[in-house]
Amino acid sequence: MTDLVLPSETNPLNNLFGGELLARMDRAASIAARRHSRRITVTASVNHVAFNQAVPVGSVVTVEAAVSRAFKTSMEIYIDVWMEDRFSGEKSKVNEAIYTFVAVDESGRPIQIPELNPETPLEKERYAAALRRKQLSLVLAGKMKPKEATELRALFMD
Ligand SMILES: CC(C)(COP(=O)(O)OP(=O)(O)OC[C@H]1O[C@@H](n2cnc3c(N)ncnc32)[C@H](O)[C@@H]1OP(=O)(O)O)[C@@H](O)C(=O)NCCC(=O)NCCS
Repeated sequence: MTDLVLPSETNPLNNLFGGELLARMDRAASIAARRHSRRITVTASVNHVAFNQAVPVGSVVTVEAAVSRAFKTSMEIYIDVWMEDRFSGEKSKVNEAIYTFVAVDESGRPIQIPELNPETPLEKERYAAALRRKQLSLVLAGKMKPKEATELRALFMD
């Protein structure tokens, strides 16, 4: 999704307001989740957001969202945010985020989704790390006991 940063979307320093970027990322992630599952999808959690660089008013911002791993009913969506240089047109990465979406039926109950097969080295890297991120998110949400998060624990044992 590519769009301008308008004055009404900025903070007192004339940079893009964080909540506006979160909303843009949520919309792009929702489209990626829907395209993969072909179901109604809802945001289950925002696992990670890094506002690495301020985005000034007037910037052209591109939010790129892709499903990095599909589990049973949930999907991890990896979001890269790029800003386009006004003069050279060159894109630089300014932010990234990781969201979890769940596919649901008409009554809002989680429903099974197709698997995802990563192809490129980056897709494979993100796919591999997604399970421990899911476990971390579930532990922080109080939905999984730390001792059950085996892949996450293994990260700290190495
Ligand atoms: C998201 C929602 C459907 C999950 O329902 P639930 O009863 O917790 O369902 P489950 O426990 O079966 O979890 C469903 C999946 O979500 C995953 N999940 C749930 N909470 C999660 C979290 N905090 N982090 C990561 N994954 C999570 C579960 O691991 C499970 O994944 P899997 O089936 O792929 O293994 C439900 O909480 C909901 O409808 N929330 C509101 C969503 C919404 O309105 N979003 C917009 C906010 S404004």
